[in-house]
Amino acid sequence: MSAQSDSSPQPEAATAVSIELKDIVQEYPASGGGITRVVDGVNLVFERPGINMLLGPSGCGKSTILHMLGGVRPMNAKTPTSGKILIDGVECHDAHDDSVMVFQRYSNRPDLSVFDNVAFPFRLNLWKKRVPEAEWRKRISDMLESVGLADKRNLRPSQLSGGQNQRVALARALVLRPRILLMDEPFGALDAQTREEMQLLLIDLYKERPCLVVFVTHDVTEALVLGDRVIVLSPQPAKIADDFTIDVPRPRSTTWQRSEEALQHEKRILAQLHKAPGKGTVRVTV
Ligand SMILES: Nc1ncnc2c1ncn2[C@@H]1O[C@H](COP(=O)(O)OP(=O)(O)OP(=O)(O)O)[C@@H](O)[C@H]1O
Ligand SMILES: [Mg+2]
Repeated sequence: MSAQSDSSPQPEAATAVSIELKDIVQEYPASGGGITRVVDGVNLVFERPGINMLLGPSGCGKSTILHMLGGVRPMNAKTPTSGKILIDGVECHDAHDDSVMVFQRYSNRPDLSVFDNVAFPFRLNLWKKRVPEAEWRKRISDMLESVGLADKRNLRPSQLSGGQNQRVALARALVLRPRILLMDEPFGALDAQTREEMQLLLIDLYKERPCLVVFVTHDVTEALVLGDRVIVLSPQPAKIADDFTIDVPRPRSTTWQRSEEALQHEKRILAQLHKAPGKGTVRVTV
């Protein structure tokens, strides 16, 4: 929901958070020597809970920006090369305690049960101190109900489908009740039907507890179905090519997805993506 327009409950004050990217530049060592500029002066402000979709041609720097926000640092480069990331107005150099990431590869531990995979962060110092065990056990049971895995709590990831594994990863992230949720093509490896189910699940879970989501996708339809705001990056080096809001309550019906309004948004996104010189994939599933 845009915090302003959705019919879902207004976010609790505790979830309010702001992120500011100021003049972000990222350069990496190039394989043939020298440097490659990947991100070129990106300025972005996220001021409230909402689902912010980040699109751009393959290789333009989407993951670079998301990892930067999540404090995931590459071994071979200072990041950002220049510019600042401010969270709640404070410059942030590392992983922020209130943010979690969900990746396309769901990174569940094969040796742990579904329950223990979701419980994993609570066994680490930061979260152990924050949430008492009785509470996190209750939260996990509730979350497994919400994501439809209550009867699978004792199974291992190898006994689950790809979609179920991604539910585990989503549960592990959301059970922490993060103020910032960073998602890097989380549904990109799933088939169309499972992807749609996961989008609806995310909408439901988000309504229960809104937070600031930055969601990278290649899928234009996914951006239209989920986004309060759509940010499109230019080909590398990434600059902001477009940035607009979609003020329509979720879930967004297939009728809306075929409406003139949705079509205009789609055209607007594709116009930018098609400026990329030929590489990469764009998906439109309507
Ligand atoms: N640590 C690194 N060292 C050198 N080059 C890197 C490093 N990380 C990323 N790159 C390069 O930076 C560019 C942007 O990478 P990034 O992963 O951010 O793109 P992306 O937009 O997420 O692409 P995709 O849509 O394919 O996931 C690519 O050319 C990539 O090869
Ligand atoms: Mg990427």
